[in-house]
Parts: sequence; structure tokens; C-alpha cells
Amino acid sequence: MNKAARIAVYPGTFDPITNGHIDIITRSLRMFDRVIVAIAVNAAKTPLFSLEERIGLIQTCFAANERVEIDTTSGLIVNYVVSKNACAIVRGLRAVSDFDYELQLALMNRKLERRVETVFLMTGFRWIYISSSIIKDAARYGGDISGMVPAHVLAALRAKFGR
Ligand code: COA
Repeated sequence: MNKAARIAVYPGTFDPITNGHIDIITRSLRMFDRVIVAIAVNAAKTPLFSLEERIGLIQTCFAANERVEIDTTSGLIVNYVVSKNACAIVRGLRAVSDFDYELQLALMNRKLERRVETVFLMTGFRWIYISSSIIKDAARYGGDISGMVPAHVLAALRAKFGR
């Protein structure tokens, strides 16, 4: 019997992608046949990198992996998940401080669409203190962020900040 592919959507702003995000995607691939990294619009954020730049930075990370798809979406994430025949939303949890927001988001998404589950992965210990904003802040003032992002993201950040 042909088993249907299990597809997960990993949504986020990815401004830019960090080693913490890469860790979550890599581990998700152990549970799902395909992972769609969906750059979603968060109206509360003003990204440093354009949509095209963020797509390019993620593509470079997973160029060799045909089980990773990169896409963009606006509107309700659960509608997007259903449209892609995916069964789950993957989110990373870094600390207790993430929990309130993520619980609220997951409950709202479940209320909107019962067929979609949210799967939480604990962020790898090495990346627990990382966020895209904190990395951008450090990079802006010339801090050493090597080891927190891939080399091509580091280069892109240096170029943005003229360093
Ligand atoms: N490693 C490193 N950083 C991580 C991380 C990890 N494992 N997990 C989370 N983060 C950081 C991100 O870098 C990001 O940092 P930043 O705030 O400094 O940019 C932060 O945690 C969380 O952001 P992100 O995961 O990108 O989510 P978001 O809050 O920007 O966006 C959406 C959440 C886009 C998924 C959500 O707004 C959404 O679904 N929007 C569509 C509309 C919708 O359906 N809303 C819900 C129902 S109303």
C-alpha cells in the first residue's frame, strides 16, 4: 500500500535563518517526509532582509535536500497548511518565555482548523539564547556571531551593515 507523504510546515519570519532554525528543520525531517519552510508575514515585524533575500538564504542551506521546500505565505497559516496537504505546523520552543505566545498561537490555529496539529520541538541547547533579532543586533554593532548562523548568512549580515 502506498502511504501518503507526511508533510509539515515550519512557518516563521526567518529574518534571517539561524542555526537554531536549521536545527529544528533538520530534526523535523526525522519525523516528516517533507518539510515546507514557509516564510510567513508577521504584520508586527519590519524585516531587514527582503522576501527574496530570505528565500535565497534558506535555499543555500538546503540546496542539497529535496525533502525541504521553501515557500512564502500570507494570510492564515492553517489555510496554507491545508492547501499543501500538510498535517502539522512545527514550532521551536526556546524558553518558558516562548510558551505563552506559542500556546495561544497553537490553540487559535486548532480552533480555526482541527485537522492541523502543532508539533513543538525544544530548541537545541546550543541555540536556546538565539533569536534573529538578537543576532541582527550583535551584527549591527560588529559583534562576533560566527557559529550562530551559516557562513553565507554571516556574509549577508556583514554586507547589510557595511562591515
Ligand atoms: N532558533 C532560533 N531562533 C528561534 C527559534 C529557534 N529554534 N525558534 C524561534 N526563534 C526566534 C526567531 O528567530 C524569531 O526571532 P525574532 O522575533 O527576533 O525575529 C522568534 O523566535 C519567533 O519568530 P518566528 O518563529 O519567526 O515567528 P513569528 O512570531 O515571527 O511569526 C508566524 C509567527 C508567522 C508563524 C505567525 O505570525 C503566523 O502564523 N502568521 C500568519 C497569520 C496566522 O495564521 N496567525 C495565527 C492565527 S491568528
